Amino acid sequence: MNDAAYAAITSRRVTRNMSAEPVAPEAFELVIGAARHAPNAGNRRLQPVVPVTDPRLLRLLRLIAPGMVPRPQAAAVICIDVARALDYGFRPDAPGLYVDVGTTAATLLLAAHAVGLASCPVTSFSRAAAGRLLGLAPGVTAQMIVCLGHAAVDQPLAMGAWARQPR
Ligand SMILES: Cc1cc2nc3c(=O)[nH]c(=O)nc-3n(C[C@H](O)[C@H](O)[C@H](O)COP(=O)(O)O)c2cc1C
Repeated sequence: MNDAAYAAITSRRVTRNMSAEPVAPEAFELVIGAARHAPNAGNRRLQPVVPVTDPRLLRLLRLIAPGMVPRPQAAAVICIDVARALDYGFRPDAPGLYVDVGTTAATLLLAAHAVGLASCPVTSFSRAAAGRLLGLAPGVTAQMIVCLGHAAVDQPLAMGAWARQPR
């Protein structure tokens, strides 16, 4: 067994309070580069990942994303290239397209953890507004914002953790 890989999988946690410490460009590139290694249906790679580091754009993304609790220092937006999917004969609602968003997300979250970054996936946001803010080509839809940064000292209770606390 690969202890390091298993330890990374079991120790990663979503971080909803991030500090103002910037994300080193080298670490960010490693995380973005890891997306290429996500398993995906038919190896067609229809999930482009848009890197975001511009502070103004990050603030604007927060405005259109109620689920985006952290103030990230960087983000990776996982998209679906629906136009290319149609060319391959996929229906736009083909489950594989969305499964591959998940495999890409899991890969990014683990890669972030591996390089010492905190992360938080967010799917609660306006797809239309995100597309306009990011200048996505027609036929490309944003599906998940992976927030990246460093964990602040104080963390809110993990979602559902209250239910596991002794009473
Ligand atoms: C598809 C998906 C969507 C999610 N959306 C949000 C979100 O909008 N905001 C948020 O704070 N966390 C979001 N999360 C994070 C989950 O709440 C988190 O993974 C879960 O509570 C388990 O916590 P853990 O990852 O730290 O083990 C999302 C996770 C997934 C897989």
